[in-house]
Parts: sequence; structure tokens; C-alpha cells
Amino acid sequence: MPRHVAIIMDGNGRWAKQRGLPRTFGHNSGARQVRAIIEHCADLGVGHVTLFAFSSENWKRPADEVSSLMSLFMLYLEKEIRDMNLNGVRLKVVGDLSRFDARLQKLIADAQIQTASNTRITLTVAANYGGRWDMVEAVRLWQAAHPGQSALALTEEDLTPHLSMADAPDPDLLIRTGGESRISNFLLWQMAYAELYFTDVLWPDFSTQEMDRALAWYADKDRRFGAVTQRVAS
Ligand code: IPE
Ligand code: IPE
Ligand code: MG
Repeated sequence: MPRHVAIIMDGNGRWAKQRGLPRTFGHNSGARQVRAIIEHCADLGVGHVTLFAFSSENWKRPADEVSSLMSLFMLYLEKEIRDMNLNGVRLKVVGDLSRFDARLQKLIADAQIQTASNTRITLTVAANYGGRWDMVEAVRLWQAAHPGQSALALTEEDLTPHLSMADAPDPDLLIRTGGESRISNFLLWQMAYAELYFTDVLWPDFSTQEMDRALAWYADKDRRFGAVTQRVAS
């Protein structure tokens, strides 16, 4: 089993379009899919799932789509926190949250506090997240923690604690639904050695069976990390 699965949940808009529905219906449907996937991963012993919910580039979408995504995120937080606590799910949110409205920021902060002691699985939601932003932010945070120190001697180990995902192992498996084979500025630093799984299945159709298919694909990989063979499957 991968310790950490990262997912680019893509294809909501096309899923809706195929049905002659507005894009927001696709987002609603996609959001409903999340719980089953998280539960399934928790049952299988995957410790961390990280979901790309909103990229730093998604502000380029029409204002009404952006605002309905924000409402959906708020609704999700309000609705799911109780069950997350019942199911041992720890919620974290990464990204530049400063651009969200105060009410959403408060909901996020509360949700993180309320689920902080859950240990079965950590669900990290990347919201207004960009991999490049994460790296630049890490340098800024490092500098703030080491005033007067020159970055000339900076090492990877110096920066790691200041990256968004500092508390999680690097993703072993990246899944992107929706048929595109690109990273779209997701966890650039952390995915250096992730296995990349691309599927045409649209996110609202990504079932637990599809998840099993991705995990079986992953289990068959040789992960060498630049060295010699180290089998994933035991
Ligand atoms: C992914 O689905 C959800 C977000 C980016 C928020 P899309 O909305 O990108 O769906 P497609 O790619 O247009 O089908
Ligand atoms: C990636 O999907 C971002 C999220 C899933 C949140 P996009 O639909 O925004 O990516 P592009 O535009 O196809 O690269
Ligand atoms: Mg898309």
C-alpha cells in the first residue's frame, strides 16, 4: 500500500456537460465522491490522502463558478466534520488561504482544530494551492525563521520543514482523473518520486473499484529511487 496518495480530481465539468447540466452539478457530484474514497483508503491502511480541490490558477474561471466552488467547500466543511471525527479522519488544508473570505478561513481553522487528534487517516485538501507558490513560500518562511542568514548555503533539508506537506511522507502515488496527463502545478517538490497514474475516468465516476485499479497498478511498480530494484509488492 502507498503511504500517501495524492489525487488531482479532474473532469467534473465534462461529467456535467455530458449530461447537459451546468458545470456546478459536476462539482457537487465530485464532492459527494470524496467521502467513499477517503473511507476506502482508510480501510486499506493508506495513512494520507491529499486532494487537489482548487488550484492557484482556478481563479481564472468565471466568477460564478469560483463562487460556487467556494460555497461547496464551505458546505463540505460544515457537513462533514462531525463524521470525520466519528471516522478518525484528520483534516488539513494547504494553500494560500489568505485570499479566501474570512468566513471560509474561520471554518477551515475550526475544522483543523476539531479533527487534530484523529489518527486513522489524514485528509489534506489543497485549496488555492500551487506547487510553485509552495516552494517560494518555503523560502520566505525559512528566511523569516533565519533572519540575517544567507540563502547561499540553503539545503533541501533546510527547506523541507517549511513546505506545506512537511508533516506527511512524500506521495507514493499520484492519481489524475479526467484524461489529462499533466501535473497542473500540484505538489511539484513532493512528487519527485511519485508513481503517476492517469485515467480517463471523470472524477464524479471515480469509484472505490477505480481506486483499487489504481492501487493494483501501483503495487506492480519497481521503485528504484535512482538506485537498484526495490519491489513495492511484498
Ligand atoms: C476539476 O474539474 C475540479 C476543479 C478544478 C475545481 P474541472 O472543473 O476542471 O472539470 P473539467 O476538467 O472542466 O471537466
Ligand atoms: C487541476 O485541474 C486542478 C484541480 C483539480 C483542482 P484543472 O482542470 O484546473 O487543470 P488544467 O487547467 O486542465 O491543467
Ligand atoms: Mg479540469
